[in-house]
Amino acid sequence: MKTIMVIGAGQMGAGIAQVAAQAGYDVILNDIKEDFVTRGLQGIEKNLNRSVEKGRMSAEDKAAILGRFRKSTSYQDAADADLVIEAAVEKMSIKGEIFKTLDSVCPEHTILATNTSSLPITQVAAVTKRPDRVIGMHFFNPVPVMKLVEVIRGLETSDEVYNTIEKLSRELGKTPVEVKDAPGFVANRILIPMINEAVWILNEGIAKPEDIDEVMKLGANQPMGPLALGDLIGLDTVLAICNVLHEGLGDKYRPCPLLRKYVDAGRLGRKTGRGFFTY
Ligand code: 3HC
Repeated sequence: MKTIMVIGAGQMGAGIAQVAAQAGYDVILNDIKEDFVTRGLQGIEKNLNRSVEKGRMSAEDKAAILGRFRKSTSYQDAADADLVIEAAVEKMSIKGEIFKTLDSVCPEHTILATNTSSLPITQVAAVTKRPDRVIGMHFFNPVPVMKLVEVIRGLETSDEVYNTIEKLSRELGKTPVEVKDAPGFVANRILIPMINEAVWILNEGIAKPEDIDEVMKLGANQPMGPLALGDLIGLDTVLAICNVLHEGLGDKYRPCPLLRKYVDAGRLGRKTGRGFFTY
């Protein structure tokens, strides 16, 4: 494997692209607009600059990493990829279209991975003629820092593809954990209801946002409180995952109306400057 294409240059996609380039892979970073790709690359450069400033990376290494990127706004560029990792929006209709196109463009050997946080891998794989070469590779935000990759097999994913992705995850500096294809997989099935519960507590006026977070930081040793974590993930993403859990697993996963209201208002968290907190 030499070339990895990442679809989506947002916070997850850019993070995945960064760790792939740092591990020595050539990376094609793709988004629908060149501006989005440029913004993603600027974020990566900022992270690398911090590593140089802190003495963890030489300026030469930084230049070499940045030299491994190629910008893309066309799925046709996937013709050069050995692996494509899709990190686009969490909508089955959009992912379906992307995977159909990738399947027609990519060489036979190319593995198609999705960083979906909750959608069924088997369903994504089913739109392609290579369901044995489709797999879930679920990274965590911020990708350069978080050590986990949930590796999810679809119904048809081959052992060869699973083993390749498990090995690659280690090369990227991550610890892979095998997880079955089920709503929310493991991490989000636990994390998202916790965040949703914090929103219910806020909705019921039981405590102020900063106090809810303080409770979980000091009382449960979490690095950040659930509301700040929701703002980091993006409240639109939290709501989308919560909806998948609700549909797939029943009423106890029902999203709090206040979460929906924030999303409707465009208060999506850090990425829009305001969520439960202001940034
Ligand atoms: N990109 C790259 N590096 C980052 C970063 C980012 N966005 N944010 C923080 N970092 C780095 C910092 O540079 C710093 O590195 P250094 O100490 O080596 O210089 C290190 O992380 C620690 O950062 P800070 O000192 O600024 O702050 P904290 O110690 O509070 O750590 C945190 C920040 C790592 C975000 C920590 O608060 C944390 O672990 N929070 C929980 C994150 C979490 O649970 N993520 C999972 C979300 S769920 C998900 O992603 C799944 C999806 O499907 C929804």
